[in-house]
Amino acid sequence: MNTPLFDRGVISRYREYLPVGPGTPVVSLNEGSTPLVHSPKLSALAGAEVFLKYEGLNPTGSFKDRGMTMAISKAVEAGARTVICASTGNTSAAAAAYAARAGISCAVLLPAGKIASGKLVQAFAYGARVIAIRGNFDDALRLVRELGGLDGYAIVNSINPDRIEGQKTASFEIIDILGDAPDFHILPVGNAGNITAYWKGYTEFHALGRSTRLPAMIGFQAAGSAPVFHGRVVEQPSTLATAIRIGNPASWQGARDAISQSGGAVDIVTDQEILAAQRWLAANEGIFVEPASAASVAGLMRCMGSARCEVCPMARIRPGSRVVLTVTGHGLKDPEAVAKGGSVEPFECEASAGAVRSLLEN
Ligand code: F0G
Repeated sequence: MNTPLFDRGVISRYREYLPVGPGTPVVSLNEGSTPLVHSPKLSALAGAEVFLKYEGLNPTGSFKDRGMTMAISKAVEAGARTVICASTGNTSAAAAAYAARAGISCAVLLPAGKIASGKLVQAFAYGARVIAIRGNFDDALRLVRELGGLDGYAIVNSINPDRIEGQKTASFEIIDILGDAPDFHILPVGNAGNITAYWKGYTEFHALGRSTRLPAMIGFQAAGSAPVFHGRVVEQPSTLATAIRIGNPASWQGARDAISQSGGAVDIVTDQEILAAQRWLAANEGIFVEPASAASVAGLMRCMGSARCEVCPMARIRPGSRVVLTVTGHGLKDPEAVAKGGSVEPFECEASAGAVRSLLEN
């Protein structure tokens, strides 16, 4: 499709597959087109071809921008003057940025004290009204559902179907780059909008004959916040991967459908495994992601490493299988988390070559 070079966002590139009309004002920051990076070391570990969909390279540093270009464009089209969302941090950053771009206001409800500093700073920088709730994400989303019906307001959480529409474009990009869908798709699951969106994208392109296969969808949750895995609401979710600290996901049914229809699975990883995978990915492949994103890598490492189990769908991974992992957000979003996984203290010395040399050689 021919679109001007300065307008390469997901709506421009995939307009015909999205619910936009000629009159929809496109609010875009040229999101999407994120790299699909081949990982030689994860490929060797898994005995297959492993790729990382590096969503941290979106304009606000997470995959949320794909859904937000759609949600804000449609909200503006409908005449909204304020958008509102609950968030563990990334949705609020994206909502604030796209609202700023559209010239409308943005209010974000966040669980107090549980937002990574990079994300909180973004919401302020983009000019949002930031409200911290003494409760968790699930409480914040309940309040947004109550308040979002106010005149002139639009909810831009993934309970808004426009968000799912925008996010499904990540599957389109993967199919366009690989020439077909992968055999396995692994991603972290929090509120479950993203797994729902990916599955929608894969099934739509498959139905259109753009791919010959559908991937098995494999979701990973943090062990302390794993409602989909346990099949019940978690009242007090806990994990240092604050992005996925969610006990009652809004798109629970979408996740269930994606997993069962695709022959996939949902599993858990511990916070220690998440931190180790985050460090490993940065130090071994040069890709720095936030803890929630590292859950997919931790999951692959566990299931293809020592804990290989025969009942897991990943036992079907073979040489030549293509496996895509979505790494959802940039590591710079959550600087504090890095310090929990190992030292971030530099060696300090006087400004002399001798002092530096002695540090290098010891
Ligand atoms: N990874 C990151 C970095 C996220 O920010 C989120 C969700 C997920 C994974 C999980 O995606 O919710 O679609 O299953 N963040 C939301 C937020 C909840 O408010 O930013 P999901």
